[in-house]
Amino acid sequence: MKFETRCVQVGVSKTEQTGSISTPIYQTATFRHPGLGMTTGYDYSRSGNPTREQLEKAIANLEQGSKGFAFASGMAAFDAVLRLFNPGDHLIVSDDLYGGTYRILEHIYSKTGLSVTYVDTTDVKEVGRVVSSNTKAIIIETPSNPLMKITDIQAVAKLAKKSNLMLIVDNTFMTPYWQCPLTLGADIVIHSATKYLGGHNDLVAGLAVVKDKGLGEQLYFIQNSVGSILGPQDSWLLLRGMKTLSVRLEKSQQNALEIALWLKEHPKVSKVYYPGLVEHPGYELMKKNSNGFGGMVSFDVVDSALVEKVLFSLELITFAESLGGVESLITYPVKQTHADIPQEIRESKGLTNRLLRLSVGIEHVNDLIDDLDQVLS
Ligand SMILES: Cc1ncc(COP(=O)(O)O)c(C=O)c1O
Repeated sequence: MKFETRCVQVGVSKTEQTGSISTPIYQTATFRHPGLGMTTGYDYSRSGNPTREQLEKAIANLEQGSKGFAFASGMAAFDAVLRLFNPGDHLIVSDDLYGGTYRILEHIYSKTGLSVTYVDTTDVKEVGRVVSSNTKAIIIETPSNPLMKITDIQAVAKLAKKSNLMLIVDNTFMTPYWQCPLTLGADIVIHSATKYLGGHNDLVAGLAVVKDKGLGEQLYFIQNSVGSILGPQDSWLLLRGMKTLSVRLEKSQQNALEIALWLKEHPKVSKVYYPGLVEHPGYELMKKNSNGFGGMVSFDVVDSALVEKVLFSLELITFAESLGGVESLITYPVKQTHADIPQEIRESKGLTNRLLRLSVGIEHVNDLIDDLDQVLS
């Protein structure tokens, strides 16, 4: 079955007793036991809930993994995955990444004895150079947030296999519609489902999918033990959002390309970061590993004094954190999503105080360009 069809069919059960097309919301903490030592298959909602289970099956199907897990947020999904490691373990992580991922590694997991080396994972040889005897995993974001750097998932997966490391990919920016890391050799995929998968800026959720069944058992043990699960209402809302994933993403990408081309020609814009531009250094790689380029566009304005004007004079595009929803949002990474990364590190990577990140929604592109035009002219 084609991806678009699988997306629409998520959560639709042919065996559900009432024939309900929409997945029922099982708003229950617990389940009656039919007899001593007997179970309906559900005992307690932290351990398993039928609505959440539909969502977990859906994401496992779309990402082509063996098992999916739904969490209260993207960071809760990360937290669960990081619990797979032990004190003394070493991780290699993309140096351009969501600030919250940097924060959990530096301020929470460093205390548990995990060490991290941040590298430019677009340079696979450099990744190989920092592998040491205690390295256990490589964690990448591609495209990275917010500089849209492209890592060759297949090449890093090959290196990971050779060195017996796990490869973990944050697939938030792409979703399985554009990119399927597990089919390219990754072991775990993580999502902030708050973004494109939910798609409507109306919920916070995280998902993880594993390829290997044994790894799935370990992650289930963590999910059930730590308990940062997604509740049944939000599981339903996320399932509903996922049904329209393909149409939303096509439109958002189409708008993003037009906006990137327009920004590129604008005299007040000094640089545009969009992997769908042929001159982007990751363009060919994306064509090899992905089916599309996504709807995220970052750009540098010529002067930092312009930033405030842009953020507060836009009328249609909203200045707000987050991304991936139907509404276009603009973010100022140095003050928002990446504020936890020290200034000198940010600047050394090219994350300037002139950089703005645009999550392109599904509005009419002319309205979005008109809005940008009135603030940049
Ligand atoms: C790429 C990426 N990964 C993970 C997260 C964390 O997800 P959440 O905000 O759902 O906890 C975010 C949030 O912005 C993100 O952009």
